[in-house]
Amino acid sequence: MSIKKILTEPNKILRQISKPVEKVGKYEQNLMDDMLDTMYAADGIGLAAIQIGIPKRIIVMDISWHKAEKKPMYFVNPIIREKDKEKSIYEEGCLSVPNQFAEVERPRNCEVEYINYDGKKELLKAEGLLATCIQHEMDHLEGILFIDYLSKLKKSMIIKKLLKNRPDRIVV
Ligand code: NI
Repeated sequence: MSIKKILTEPNKILRQISKPVEKVGKYEQNLMDDMLDTMYAADGIGLAAIQIGIPKRIIVMDISWHKAEKKPMYFVNPIIREKDKEKSIYEEGCLSVPNQFAEVERPRNCEVEYINYDGKKELLKAEGLLATCIQHEMDHLEGILFIDYLSKLKKSMIIKKLLKNRPDRIVV
């Protein structure tokens, strides 16, 4: 298991549409292990494979890891089967949009069909933070970031800040 570099906006790779996984094998399981390590190391609660530059429809999440017990979740090829008409608002952040936060409105509940770590099909009824988190991560698979839901002005301000804070910025 190893910790990978997380890509940050602006980066064209983050805008790619991820491809479905044909079969969950050792490669995919190793990838999920690395993604989970990377996510924990970065203090995040969710990570999509594209965030480490791999365009596959794979997500890892752990919305409880600040508590005593870790509860990792793995989603391969997730599909939303149903979503609530009612919305909820959370202040979202993203490991690919470091240190920036904004309120985003999304369906409050959703039902997600996916393949788990062992290659088995599962159905999850998600609500609250879990529902928001899975929808945020599934957006990554379509090349969408939470800042895309904000006004043009707010989005460009955030991107400006990100560019300014890049460690590899050279001023001559
Ligand atoms: Ni994100």
